[in-house]
Amino acid sequence: MTHQPTRRSMMALFGFMLFVAGAAQAEAPPARLANVTILATGGTIAGTGATSTTTVGYTAATVGVQALIKAVPELAKVAHVSGEQVFQIASENMDNEHWLTLAKRVNVLLAQSNVDGIVITHGTDTLEETAYFLDLVVKSRKPVVLVGAMRPSTALSADGPINLYNAVLLAASQEAVGKGVLVAMNDQIQAARDITKTNTSTLDAFRTPELGMLGYIQGSRPFFYRQSTRKHTIDTEFDVSALTALPQVDIVYGYANVGPVALDAFVAAGAKGIIHAGVGDGSLADKVLPALKAARAKGVLIVRASRVGQGILARNGEAKDDELDFVVADTLNAQKARILLMLALTRTGSSKEIQRMFYTY
Ligand code: SIN
Repeated sequence: MTHQPTRRSMMALFGFMLFVAGAAQAEAPPARLANVTILATGGTIAGTGATSTTTVGYTAATVGVQALIKAVPELAKVAHVSGEQVFQIASENMDNEHWLTLAKRVNVLLAQSNVDGIVITHGTDTLEETAYFLDLVVKSRKPVVLVGAMRPSTALSADGPINLYNAVLLAASQEAVGKGVLVAMNDQIQAARDITKTNTSTLDAFRTPELGMLGYIQGSRPFFYRQSTRKHTIDTEFDVSALTALPQVDIVYGYANVGPVALDAFVAAGAKGIIHAGVGDGSLADKVLPALKAARAKGVLIVRASRVGQGILARNGEAKDDELDFVVADTLNAQKARILLMLALTRTGSSKEIQRMFYTY
């Protein structure tokens, strides 16, 4: 004998299914929060001023990492956060040894399965340099996000807390995996290679001239719109794990009436490479060119960059680079060209190879 389902039995079955689904939902574990480690290095984000309206003339690098975390309880909603005080410095004092220490710590942490991403709090003055250094030497696809602030923690409308919140949610996000080292400032996501500080004091100081930012952070979500085509992190040939120092590379600047004094002094002090931040498309003044040739003859690597800040440095344009055995910086500004040349010199002394690297990273 077969039973036809009645309307009442169908309703009961439907109700039971809803109950089971509801119970399952209630018991489902919450989505796993990512583990993000904040490495604090100092800067204005950790700075304090005499009054709430002190936005210049404050003291950078005074607030410790635990206090930074405590000031933003909302962090607990987006990640399990832990903090380490790696340094406590104003970023004009960042040097090669700091970078090696930081990079090694980042690589150790990211190799751990219980670390999903890293945020580095940093002074804004050299933030772009540390970001690019890490972009070239971090050996992981996990997110690494640098963040700073233009106003000290004591200021009215301090930007540090929201920047830190955005950086942590970005470092905790799947969207940031494999994107290279990122910078989160002023609700924007920017790439380490191309970002630069363009203003002494305004909140929108960080820009990626012409090439553009990667995306925004809005409503506690990262939105990516573009990505750099240049190789980074796990796809580079640089390895700092055994390094205790980096080769000396210095920057000389082009300007009207320039002479060879600074260049000669750097070479005499043992520079292994020189970045020449020339005027325009990296032009070389007649008074400087002989000193550059002499330096190259001594084995010093010469990279032509531009002080202009935007555009490609044309190889064999304003100088006969093939003949002079010089390298050009592509679109890198002088301070970033210095970083790539230091790392390049840890691998090779060949100008051809180093030129390849400048077109690759
Ligand atoms: C610094 O770079 O340490 C001071 C300036 C800043 O963080 O904005």
